[in-house]
Amino acid sequence: MAKFTLPDNSKIKKGSNIDASNGSNNKKTFKIYRWSPDDDDNPRTDTITIDTDQCGPMVLDAINYIKNSVDTTLSYRRSCREGICGSCAMNINGTNTLACITSIEELDSENISIYPLPHMPVVKDLVPDLNHTYEQLASIQPWLQSDTPNPKRERLQSPEEQELIDEASKCILCFCCSTACPSYWWNSDQFLGPAILLQAYRWLMDSRDDAKAKRLENLEDPFRLYRCHTIMNCTNTCPKGLNPAKAIAEIKKQMVAREH
Ligand code: SF4
Ligand code: F3S
Ligand code: FES
Repeated sequence: MAKFTLPDNSKIKKGSNIDASNGSNNKKTFKIYRWSPDDDDNPRTDTITIDTDQCGPMVLDAINYIKNSVDTTLSYRRSCREGICGSCAMNINGTNTLACITSIEELDSENISIYPLPHMPVVKDLVPDLNHTYEQLASIQPWLQSDTPNPKRERLQSPEEQELIDEASKCILCFCCSTACPSYWWNSDQFLGPAILLQAYRWLMDSRDDAKAKRLENLEDPFRLYRCHTIMNCTNTCPKGLNPAKAIAEIKKQMVAREH
């Protein structure tokens, strides 16, 4: 029988175990994925216990504390620290989410595991390589394409027309959804994934845009759109409460309407 196993250099080893809690009663242990391209070492998980009275209430606060006070070599992305830039997306206790809006207390867990977004190449530690995903975003041409001359002022929409793109416009491109989608895990070379398809939907629904036919044509492909098999992980995990699965279903409906 065939045996499947990770190559030796991909096996995650146990890393260092550091207790930096100074005997506090409010301590928490973080198990953090580490990998560096600068040496030939395997990936490892470091276990670091800290006094949570020394940091703010969110997981990102704890990670910042660890970087500032325990291990300055830890790499991760963050910027806004309030759930609007999408930079701090990572896998926390098995769920893709934003570290800056995930409360340590609400996780209600002695040990908190932190990994990079799954099934993405890793640049270093908790930093995923998003180059391919951004190339996919560029491929759907996420900008207004109008046949009418530029107006003197802005292009107006009715409140009802705006409402059609309201939810999709709230997407912060954190990619928690795409990296939770099994179809994206196996076919991300061709399948656009829920984050990019939500953006495609946003432009298809924009009353000011005249490129609808071209945009649908661009998605007509067994992989780019139709590799979505309605698994729903995307909608279940979105930390902004958006529904990319519904947007994908709407695109599929528009595709059928176009064909008749
Ligand atoms: Fe992130 Fe949600 Fe947008 Fe997906 S739909 S990229 S999970 S904000
Ligand atoms: Fe994936 Fe969401 Fe479709 S999890 S298969 S994109 S419904
Ligand atoms: Fe911007 Fe978390 S730091 S979303």
